[in-house]
Amino acid sequence: MRQQELDSVFYTEFGKKGTSYTGCPYRVSPLGAHIDHQKGIVTGLAIDKGIQICYARTADDHCELISLNFPGKKCFSIEALTQEKEGDWADHLRGTAWVLRKKYALLHGIQAVMAGDLPSGGISSSAAVILAFMDALCLANGIRLSNQERITLAREVENSYVGVQCGILDQSCEVLCQKEKLLYLDTRNQKYELLAYPEMGQAFGIGIFFSGLERSLANSKYNLRVDECKSAAYALEAFGGMDYGTYESTCLRDVPVEIYEKYRDCLPRIWEKRAAHYYSEMDRVQRGADAWKKGDLKTFGRLMFESGRSSIENYECGCPELISMYEILANTEGIYGARFSGAGFKGCCVALFDPSKEEQIAQQVEERYLEKFPGLRGAYAFYACESDNGIG
Ligand code: GLA
Repeated sequence: MRQQELDSVFYTEFGKKGTSYTGCPYRVSPLGAHIDHQKGIVTGLAIDKGIQICYARTADDHCELISLNFPGKKCFSIEALTQEKEGDWADHLRGTAWVLRKKYALLHGIQAVMAGDLPSGGISSSAAVILAFMDALCLANGIRLSNQERITLAREVENSYVGVQCGILDQSCEVLCQKEKLLYLDTRNQKYELLAYPEMGQAFGIGIFFSGLERSLANSKYNLRVDECKSAAYALEAFGGMDYGTYESTCLRDVPVEIYEKYRDCLPRIWEKRAAHYYSEMDRVQRGADAWKKGDLKTFGRLMFESGRSSIENYECGCPELISMYEILANTEGIYGARFSGAGFKGCCVALFDPSKEEQIAQQVEERYLEKFPGLRGAYAFYACESDNGIG
């Protein structure tokens, strides 16, 4: 269906047929929020919704890009790109070409039509669009990237072009995940396991509850929170008499929990809260992985709710709408666990739920949410998803 739509827009816009297709799934992160930029341990699932691209190689290095979700045809020459953003939806694509060009000869651009299945915010559509476009550009230029390189380069686009100081959670999920397996990744050494869906005795569905507010991390407090975590780490290293390096290279993962426990009261309250989120989330991820392996969905879900609570109280992300959504989900029967799906600055909540109760959950959450935010009728949406393979 989507392919036909892409084909037909491609034909209308470019007067010929597109020759190739690629795409990338979105991701959800049930546990391990906001700790990847501190080199923590995270979990994630790729889902069966994502970005699709229909494209054809150009003779020179020109790109002509259309999105079914955003307005305007965006055109650029890869050679002429600078680090300067233009402030529109194609920045992620310019950034991808710019980062790739530093390492590889890109003799060909692409004409492309792309589309995303879901509204952006919380499902890492930015990493998905970067990875899908990177894949298309590489195929058009005969370049083969390892999975590791895909993850590293896609993160670099965010860090050095888009300006978001994110870690590797999103890119890793979207590249490495496998259907019906939970990615359990140590972002410090990039070692990972794919934990098979447990024999839980109960099946579960993955629910995306979209608040109706789309977001851009570049305009959120994301980078400020990263700096607060680093500041907490730097101060703890100094209080604890540890050897430390540059501020830039500092992260909470380098600070043992004992040092945090000993000196936490010396920290400004706000940094202490960020650190409290980090250490408690690290603990939840590890307990969550154990519960998952044992098929204990109840514990896994409870840890998700606790993670959501810590994101609200200690990490202080979320907005009134998303926080209300979390509270509604926490009080809806049939939901095992829920939290903000990604960064939590707008976007959506993810929930693991009992599929036999899907209809009543969908109805109750919608009613309660729209009662509180009637203006978001039409923008709020619920999607039931399944896990899927990453692009790797
Ligand atoms: C965004 C970032 C990720 C990660 C999450 C929060 O999705 O891109 O690197 O920090 O937020 O867990």
